[in-house]
Amino acid sequence: MRFLTVLGARPQFVKAAPLSSALRRRFAEVLVHTGQHYDHEMSGVFFEELGIPAPDHHLEVGSGPHGEQTGVMLARLEAVMQRERPDIVLVYGDTNSTLAGALAAAKLQIPVAHVEAGLRSFNRAMPEEINRVVTDHLSTWLFAPSAHAAQQLSAEGIGRGVHVVGDIMLDAVLQHAERARQVSPYPQAANVAAGEYYLCTVHRAENTDVAQRLRDILAALGRLDQPVVLPLHPRTRKRLAEFGLTPGPNVRVIEPVGYLDMLQLERSATAILTDSGGVQKEAYYLEVPCVTLREETEWVETVVVGWNVVTGTDPDAIAEAVERHRDVRPPHPSLYGHGDAAERIVRVFDATD
Ligand code: UD1
Ligand code: UDP
Repeated sequence: MRFLTVLGARPQFVKAAPLSSALRRRFAEVLVHTGQHYDHEMSGVFFEELGIPAPDHHLEVGSGPHGEQTGVMLARLEAVMQRERPDIVLVYGDTNSTLAGALAAAKLQIPVAHVEAGLRSFNRAMPEEINRVVTDHLSTWLFAPSAHAAQQLSAEGIGRGVHVVGDIMLDAVLQHAERARQVSPYPQAANVAAGEYYLCTVHRAENTDVAQRLRDILAALGRLDQPVVLPLHPRTRKRLAEFGLTPGPNVRVIEPVGYLDMLQLERSATAILTDSGGVQKEAYYLEVPCVTLREETEWVETVVVGWNVVTGTDPDAIAEAVERHRDVRPPHPSLYGHGDAAERIVRVFDATD
């Protein structure tokens, strides 16, 4: 069986690292990078650090409005898929690269496998929600991280092809946490001491593209009682400049970091404030309290067990949640499997081969 895997954005590199190496022990894989993310610290560094094979095709699509970006990807992916003639197209998560990969394959009648299926925010204003819903409905294999995600698929009439395998990002954390500890110069490299800072990431369109929400998040960070390390996504950097916003003096703005440095920054933080899906889960795996700067989350299980609080962007709500929540250490059940998602996915394909 021959796979064609479509990647393009930062979280997809992290997700692909464990599965690509497991897949290649049994099957052939052609790797296609759409070029959605292109800065070295948003893309290249992950290939280097995580040992992901160099892409066989780089589509160099770059940034643009949703329709245009997705459309260019679709056209270029179709050409590559026609040339490569894979048996299965594999896509991850919920970015425009995910949607383009799934749609190009479906139109060519190549079956699609979706890793991280069944996640929903029920907020159609989020571009990711549209990408997920469409991708799930185009997929033949749907690898869900939790029973809850599988139930959601079932509620939408998708029963066949659903496999609860756990979260592939837990595989990545388990594979790399020890090396991160050994090689990363963080948190000291950000001039903070372990256990004496907060870590924050912000990049969601709903937070970055609305000046008031971004202003509120910065106001909340400025009120915290410890330094805040903020590895800044390029989208957010642009918007801060555009809106003329400057983080307060306790905020240490740094470039986006590689995965190993990120794990180390997460692990040693007092608490994490984020609007990232991946970072919410990593906070849970590393047993660090998390405050989610959104109105809802797809990773509801982390909230139910008490490790994650969803606050939106109101400064008072954020400050209060950090204060109340940073010392909590509730029970820590396995919400998203045991870090063997890659092996479980390969077993599903083995049984089909
Ligand atoms: C994308 C995904 C989002 C995911 C995030 C991970 C979509 C719709 N969104 O959001 O789901 O959580 O990636 O990080 O697919 N830019 C650079 N350099 C880069 C990449 C981006 O400067 O290497 C800047 C460009 O100005 C670009 C902007 O960031 O316009 C946004 O990039 P884009 O890939 O469109 O969306 P993200 O916000 O990164
Ligand atoms: N990440 C990283 N460096 C950073 C910020 C995030 O390595 O500066 C990693 C993070 O640890 C996680 C993934 O990128 O594995 C999450 O990606 P992101 O937050 O961009 O997207 P999302 O998960 O929200 O789609």
